[in-house]
Amino acid sequence: MNAVSNPVATASGDQPFPGYSRVLQPGVDISHKAILYLEDISVSFDGFKALNRLMLTIDSGELRCIIGPNGAGKTTMMDVISGKTRPDSGTVYFGQTIDLTRLTEAQIAHAGIGRKFQKPTVFENHTVFENLELAMKTDKRARASLFALLDSAQRDRIAQTLDRIELAAKADRPAGLLSHGQKQWLEIGMLLMQEPRLLLLDEPVAGMTDAETERTAELFKTLAGTHTLIVVEHDMDFVARIARTVTVLHEGSVLAEGPMETVQNDPRVVEVYLGR
Ligand SMILES: Nc1ncnc2c1ncn2[C@@H]1O[C@H](COP(=O)(O)OP(=O)(O)O)[C@@H](O)[C@H]1O
Ligand SMILES: [Mg+2]
Repeated sequence: MNAVSNPVATASGDQPFPGYSRVLQPGVDISHKAILYLEDISVSFDGFKALNRLMLTIDSGELRCIIGPNGAGKTTMMDVISGKTRPDSGTVYFGQTIDLTRLTEAQIAHAGIGRKFQKPTVFENHTVFENLELAMKTDKRARASLFALLDSAQRDRIAQTLDRIELAAKADRPAGLLSHGQKQWLEIGMLLMQEPRLLLLDEPVAGMTDAETERTAELFKTLAGTHTLIVVEHDMDFVARIARTVTVLHEGSVLAEGPMETVQNDPRVVEVYLGR
């Protein structure tokens, strides 16, 4: 089998696709530094171009912020990366070898791309700990044995995640009793249990208090490096706090890209977005 007929098999070494375990991620080839390439991506809805020859390259370990007015195509871009929407044209590669346009949403998740939608979807009647445990045990058989004993490595991973999302003190609480912001953190923790290489976060601090927003900024900065994060956000204070490189989308294409200060002072960006 060659790279063209089965990109995932190639990327994962020698294991055919559905066979490999979720915990042992396939090797994403980041030998050229970049972990994600979108090239010339177009998506039309009834003739309207939501994405128009979009080009985007993200380096491994980056924390990239994507901003832009409503309707710019930000969510559609995430839909293309996560496999929810197929582009009409263009290529999407995860590392050097994995062609995401050939994979289903589930295969993309397995390949190491985790997505967080705006509304948290935690299991309200389960405890915080159990939510993380469920996220780790993704196949149905394992799920049936939720109350089977965890091995110590699994317990360690859950404990480490609880610390990261600052919910260790609430581990035994039903998730339904958490604040909105804490539910968002728990959902990020659930994503982390699946060990993604790339995290897609669409408006993660919407509805959070200022204190929760600040702590989310710290969490994302901690995750960058070991993970790659793509964050879509309208909260410019939050973006300023975490941003390295900012990409501005407008009418389905990149309008500007660069350090926060450069982008903020770009007259075109002020006109279409920041100045309104
Ligand atoms: N499933 C869809 N069907 C029709 N139009 C859509 C669909 N999804 C998005 N759009 C349109 O595509 C454009 C880009 O939307 P979106 O990607 O959600 O923008 P953003 O997230 O930047 O606000 C908008 O004009 C939106 O109405
Ligand atoms: Mg959106």
